[in-house]
Amino acid sequence: MPLKVSERGQMAPFMVMDVLYAANQRASLGNAVYHLEIGQPGTGAPREVIEAIQEPLSLQKLGYTDAFGITPLRDDIVEHYKSSYGLSIGQNQVAVTSGSSAGFVLAFLAAFDVGDRVAVASPGYPCYRHILKAFGIEPVILETAFEDRFQPTPEKLKAYLPLDGLIVASPSNPTGTMLDVSALKALSNFCREHNVRLISDEIYHGITYEQSAVSALEFNQDAIIINSFSKYFSMTGWRVGWMLVPEELLRPIECLQQNLFICAPTPSQIAALAAFDCKKILDGHVTRYLQNRDLLLSRLPSIGFDKLAPADGAFYLYADVSSLTNDSEGFCHKVLMETGVAFAPGRDFDSSRGKQFIRISYSESLDIINQAVDVIAEWMSENC
Ligand SMILES: Cc1ncc(COP(=O)(O)O)c(C=O)c1O
Repeated sequence: MPLKVSERGQMAPFMVMDVLYAANQRASLGNAVYHLEIGQPGTGAPREVIEAIQEPLSLQKLGYTDAFGITPLRDDIVEHYKSSYGLSIGQNQVAVTSGSSAGFVLAFLAAFDVGDRVAVASPGYPCYRHILKAFGIEPVILETAFEDRFQPTPEKLKAYLPLDGLIVASPSNPTGTMLDVSALKALSNFCREHNVRLISDEIYHGITYEQSAVSALEFNQDAIIINSFSKYFSMTGWRVGWMLVPEELLRPIECLQQNLFICAPTPSQIAALAAFDCKKILDGHVTRYLQNRDLLLSRLPSIGFDKLAPADGAFYLYADVSSLTNDSEGFCHKVLMETGVAFAPGRDFDSSRGKQFIRISYSESLDIINQAVDVIAEWMSENC
């Protein structure tokens, strides 16, 4: 008899990773590939970050750290909240994690029980609902609207009460849209009034164009704030992030971290210390993303991608391709195979309406984005 395979381990794929795999396979055969699918900076970590780790690599033991991370990094994160948000937080609130992905695991396990209901926006980052499901927590899918910048509103959330949690992301993946200050405040108040634990994924903070992002902590001290060195700091592969933890969850999250991960990778914690001093180069990346966004906004409509979510930040455009296809997965696959341009299918982010959407990531260089648009424009003129 075959051995058992658990039900909860049957997670839906993170489709972008499957597209990345197909794109890499294509590239390994010597074909041109334009990576407009993957959500990571086209750049590596700043040079100062790489340099900062050289000496410790050869001279230090690099063993485990405290579960919540090394003190200088936690201090720097405290300072970051002061200088970037004008917020005073305690060092004891800061937990350094193995990327924000580990932050979700810790937050969901600490804040919710099996059977609890947690609202997530659709379209939204797929791993929220996949992780919740694996933990026996019910993801309550809130279909958001273009008019609301694809973000949740208290009015819409009311229909889903009772809720135990709400996850927000501003800027969001896949839309790049943001909650403005009043919208974030209204959601924070809604959560307080209805006893809903707010989890704010602030991973795209720093990559914003017309307005800066505000932390949910400003309005809701019970919120769990999740952040990472992956995006603004351009350090995806280093697997280091952080969370701000409310008082009553500190010890549970510390124990979860001790048992599940022990600590975030030590070399990455040391390297991340240098990242806060690299604002000049990192802000330069944001300027490049802005140029890329503007290039796409000016070129895409004329080649057939004319319904785009208003991209306030991150490095994504979410395009309604209903006039071209009702099967975004098939569409993305065909485009990749015939042109080498990789897009992410919307179904990853929205399992119902996503079949009519694609996500375009514009984190590569302006030159690559321009070339990719040339290639797509030619393909569209022949095929659509
Ligand atoms: C909204 C969002 N949250 C979290 C993550 C995971 O990031 P990390 O590398 O910090 O685990 C991603 C990665 O794409 C993301 O888009």
